Amino acid sequence: MVLNRLKSALRIWQARGIGYPVVFLIRSVFPAVTRAPLRRPGLGYVKRGLNRMLSARGGRAEFGVEVPVHGAPVGRIDNDGRLLSPQPFAGFHRVTEAEFVARRRFDLDIRNTPNGPTVVKCYRRDRQAFSRELEALRRLEREGVPAPRVVGFERMSLTLQKTLVQAPTLRQILVDRGARILTCQIEEEAGEEGPKIDHEEVWRRGREALAELDPAIPGQLALLLEQIHNAGVTGASITFGNVCLDEDLGPVLIDFDKAQVHRRTSTLAFAAGRDHDRRLFNRIYGSDLLTETGAARLLKEVSSTGYAPLDLGQGLFTKGCWSIDSGTGRWEYLNRRVLEPIIQGSRIVDLGSHNGVMPLLMLRDGAEAVVAFERNLESARISRLTHRLFEWRYHQPFDFRVINNDMLAGLRSLRGEFDVITSFCSLYYLSEVEMLEAAVLARSLAPVFVVQAKTDTRAGAGSKAIKSGDDFLKDLLLKAGFSTVERFGPTGYSRPILIALR
Ligand SMILES: C[S@@+](CC[C@H](N)C(=O)[O-])C[C@H]1O[C@@H](n2cnc3c(N)ncnc32)[C@H](O)[C@@H]1O
Repeated sequence: MVLNRLKSALRIWQARGIGYPVVFLIRSVFPAVTRAPLRRPGLGYVKRGLNRMLSARGGRAEFGVEVPVHGAPVGRIDNDGRLLSPQPFAGFHRVTEAEFVARRRFDLDIRNTPNGPTVVKCYRRDRQAFSRELEALRRLEREGVPAPRVVGFERMSLTLQKTLVQAPTLRQILVDRGARILTCQIEEEAGEEGPKIDHEEVWRRGREALAELDPAIPGQLALLLEQIHNAGVTGASITFGNVCLDEDLGPVLIDFDKAQVHRRTSTLAFAAGRDHDRRLFNRIYGSDLLTETGAARLLKEVSSTGYAPLDLGQGLFTKGCWSIDSGTGRWEYLNRRVLEPIIQGSRIVDLGSHNGVMPLLMLRDGAEAVVAFERNLESARISRLTHRLFEWRYHQPFDFRVINNDMLAGLRSLRGEFDVITSFCSLYYLSEVEMLEAAVLARSLAPVFVVQAKTDTRAGAGSKAIKSGDDFLKDLLLKAGFSTVERFGPTGYSRPILIALR
């Protein structure tokens, strides 16, 4: 018993890499830090220090050869994003000199260049804001994410010139629909008591107007935010005044002076930045984007089934995730190594998927789409939560559909051709006759059938102890008409995989 435990611990150590126990220990001892990265009270100074060190490199980033700011000045943008200029520009409301409200932070001028209108932003003496915006815009351009493009910059004067997005801001559109969200309007309402901007109130008014305008906009904006995050940039401004709505491109963010550029998206600093953006997004737009706290809650629900433990990295794991018998442990220990070459770009049908961890791991590691059949209603529901967790953790959509149905009935109902059918530790839940029918159907639907066996089923489990064995399953697959059946799995491991080819 003790020896077996030790052997499986060694196996998983080998599979997860030499540093795994240290990572695991840190995660177990400091779950509060890793589950809500750098978001404990009093950790603000640590976060700021880390940000400075790790991300924007403290404003000391090199940006290559300067291109002087150029072009003819033709106007200025005020604190509420309105334009003071003799020349009209698409998307802008114009104001008179008397209506113009001076900008609180950085001045924005418009200059015409031979290549079109540009915005010149002067950062006063804030070198860090200048570096952050320049670095973020460079990264977004390199990654092909819609954003203003850098046209010029001057280090001495801390000035940046970028293309002007000629589309109205969300703030302008909402104001046109009657939302009183401009700073000048709020100050007017406050009257003599003095200006007191209640952001929550501004966001509430904006949300109300937005719901009437087009409820799809927050969803489009969330996709853009994910694109920006995937480019390694966090901290972009997502308030109404910094979102332009372009007719062709959809939403475009225009302000990055608080952004951070991360070298890698797997760090805790990146997770903290992304989580901050998503929480703020939910507050402003009333959305339900998954956050670190929400993910920890979902994971708890997923783990309530007690089967197929998950390790989603960065401190999010469920009890027993060190096991190599099921869940991520089994995938890492054997399944990935055997299946990775087979599943790339494949359309897969998975039978008896329980909490969905196997199909989702196949999607994470290269499969294109998975349709899963799961007879148990609760497991099917839980697998939809696992789906959500995977999309959040790996920052991408996964084409996973779970159908709450019997696997044999599901196979009978399928039409068309698939690339692979998989049945991980589930085929033997059927009767012997049904198993054969399922294998015949699988052969007619796909050229490859993957079946995972279980060689240590309790003798007391009746015929299942025989049906789950690799020898029995191999005979069955040959009987169903497959031409070859190959077995994979280390000696002594109780979950060997059989790969049957048509
Ligand atoms: C041992 S679990 C394996 C789960 C998953 N394939 C894995 O390896 O992590 C077996 C799963 O098959 C499901 N199952 C059993 N009989 C089934 C049937 N006839 N049709 C669909 N699902 C079935 C069970 O509800 C359970 O979720």
